Amino acid sequence: ELGDYSHYMQKEIFEQPQALSNTLEMISGAGQLQPGIFGAEAADIFPQVDSVLIIACGTSSYAGLTAKYWIEQVAGIACNVEIASEYRYRQSVANPKQLVVVISQSGETADTLAALHHAKAQGHTYTLAICNVPESAIVRETALRFITRAGPEIGVASTKAFTTQLSALFLLTLLLAKANHRLSEDDEKAYLDELRHLPIAVDKVLALEPSIQAWSNHFANKHHALFLGRGRHYPIALEGALKLKEISYIHAEAYPAGELKHGPLALVDSEMPVVVVAPNDEMLEKLKANMQEVSARGGQLYVFADGGSAVKPSDGVHVLQMPEHYGLLSPVLHVVALQLLSYHVALVKGTDVDKPRNLAKSVTVE
Ligand code: M6R
Repeated sequence: ELGDYSHYMQKEIFEQPQALSNTLEMISGAGQLQPGIFGAEAADIFPQVDSVLIIACGTSSYAGLTAKYWIEQVAGIACNVEIASEYRYRQSVANPKQLVVVISQSGETADTLAALHHAKAQGHTYTLAICNVPESAIVRETALRFITRAGPEIGVASTKAFTTQLSALFLLTLLLAKANHRLSEDDEKAYLDELRHLPIAVDKVLALEPSIQAWSNHFANKHHALFLGRGRHYPIALEGALKLKEISYIHAEAYPAGELKHGPLALVDSEMPVVVVAPNDEMLEKLKANMQEVSARGGQLYVFADGGSAVKPSDGVHVLQMPEHYGLLSPVLHVVALQLLSYHVALVKGTDVDKPRNLAKSVTVE
């Protein structure tokens, strides 16, 4: 089943262009989005929604956190993200006009399912599941649903499920923006074109594998790594750090780069590689100032730049040049590069990539 691949994780990373085009098949020829792709009731529910609450665990929660940036910017609707194991036991204030979105690859994660039950018990009726398994428990219990078509994900480290979740959440963003009268027809067409082009853009990132692999030796003998990002790429830094710790057992932490001075800068020395997600977006200049703070303390920077980022390699500054900047959807491209980084570091370390110690693919107990 693995074909030419050495591990399921590697296969699943490389399946992402196909997983994305399968998930986005319904927009292949569409000039306009229809809410029905989220279920028959979506056309009635979306115009009523006054805020969004996203609930998930692990990687799925980072998809939610990325979507928070999209939903607030594009749809102009307040969005919060909660970890399911916290939300389910927390005394929260329910708002019946809030759309509760649960995200889960498996659809069987105990905490996410319990959090959904908790939301419903509190009176939430606008519920939506984004899930990769159509017959799973979570999907059966929500008013609305969107099934990602990543195909079976075997590797414990989530890869193609994440990027397809992001594509689903971008569709949700556009539909909420439409319902909120915040999306012009021209913008809708432009965003749909970008989504349709996404598989090709991901292919170009996959082609960078040899250069990313070349960095793996710099990480494999380290005990710690720091990941930095800002704005919609901060959740991508979180996901990159999770991938690295999960499969290579290197302690990795992610911070929004603006937080450096508030503590983590004290950790920086030449023994702790600092990975920076540095696309050419509106936060780039701020991020460059943060990189300077790291360099000034002898830190080693590993920068994932893209078209126009103009970060120059120098002593202690390693730069991977990604393709053209991809605007709002750029997180989808940058995470693929970080997946490849963690995969290759794990290969050098010789860990069990597909079945990391102590972890299960689906966490069906609390
Ligand atoms: O199936 P789910 O999306 O609900 O799973 C949630 C997490 O357990 C999962 O994303 C976990 O963090 C992965 N192992 C990350 O790679």
